[in-house]
Amino acid sequence: MNESQRTVLVVGATGSVGRYVVASGIDHGFAVRALVRDAHRAELFPSGVEVVVGDLTRAETLCRAVAGIDAIVFTQGTYGNPAAAEAVDYGGVRNVLTALQGHKARIALMTAIGTTNRKGSHDWKRRAERLVRASGLPYTIVRPAWFDYNEPDQNRLVMLQGDKPLSGDPSDGAIARRQIAEVLVRSLASAAALRKTFELHSERGAEQKDFDPIFASLQADAAGALDGARDKPNMPLDDEPAYVVADLDQVMAH
Ligand SMILES: NC(=O)c1ccc[n+]([C@@H]2O[C@H](COP(=O)([O-])OP(=O)(O)OC[C@H]3O[C@@H](n4cnc5c(N)ncnc54)[C@H](OP(=O)(O)O)[C@@H]3O)[C@@H](O)[C@H]2O)c1
Repeated sequence: MNESQRTVLVVGATGSVGRYVVASGIDHGFAVRALVRDAHRAELFPSGVEVVVGDLTRAETLCRAVAGIDAIVFTQGTYGNPAAAEAVDYGGVRNVLTALQGHKARIALMTAIGTTNRKGSHDWKRRAERLVRASGLPYTIVRPAWFDYNEPDQNRLVMLQGDKPLSGDPSDGAIARRQIAEVLVRSLASAAALRKTFELHSERGAEQKDFDPIFASLQADAAGALDGARDKPNMPLDDEPAYVVADLDQVMAH
């Protein structure tokens, strides 16, 4: 690693998107640190990737992962189990932000389309988004459509806001995992991506070479706001569990 090289921590590095984030981080000149639960998973990664063992549900295991870090990409996730979503999708973000103890890092957080749909299953992802916004750290929040349901010639990136109502199947939109990773990693070095929250889709056509004009076309989240720029105000803080409000207060205090 050279002196000027920035280090990115990949959370969820062994996952289906996280592995692409590791590859993209290397391509873009980052020193990559991969958070894994099981040290044996290190074999997944190219040599040169620093592997750190930690469990997102146990805050005390995360100090080494965040030490001296310049940027963090969150791609961890769970499927369908609300308790796991609370512990990992949400609790993992809370625990990593807490472990930072005021150290400044650029954040890229992956959640999902439909995060603001209260009838869906993503309330914990939305709360994780809120923690990131409340942290005061520079961030970008990417809400991908269905992973890898894109057609082979469907590579043109589309970034939307407002989290439009969904039918709950791949007709809602699709995006390649590789492209999700690329957007997350490129956002880390982009002033135009700062404080942007958007849904990530694709349409027929070639991938844009420069992502900055797409980032720049988006509305930034209002300073101090808990929700994304065009999100529905359908999760009032007064109705939130007291411990969730306490977590927000705690990340704001750092
Ligand atoms: N599939 C879709 O079309 C779609 C679309 C939009 C959004 N999403 C969202 O994407 C998320 C999943 O992404 P994915 O498919 O890439 O998931 P995945 O392949 O299952 O990867 C999940 C990652 O999270 C890590 N993880 C889980 N619990 C952990 C813990 N306690 N400590 C540390 N790491 C932990 C896993 O590590 P281990 O290897 O140790 O288990 C793994 O690296 C889901 O939350 C889903 O809602 C999916």
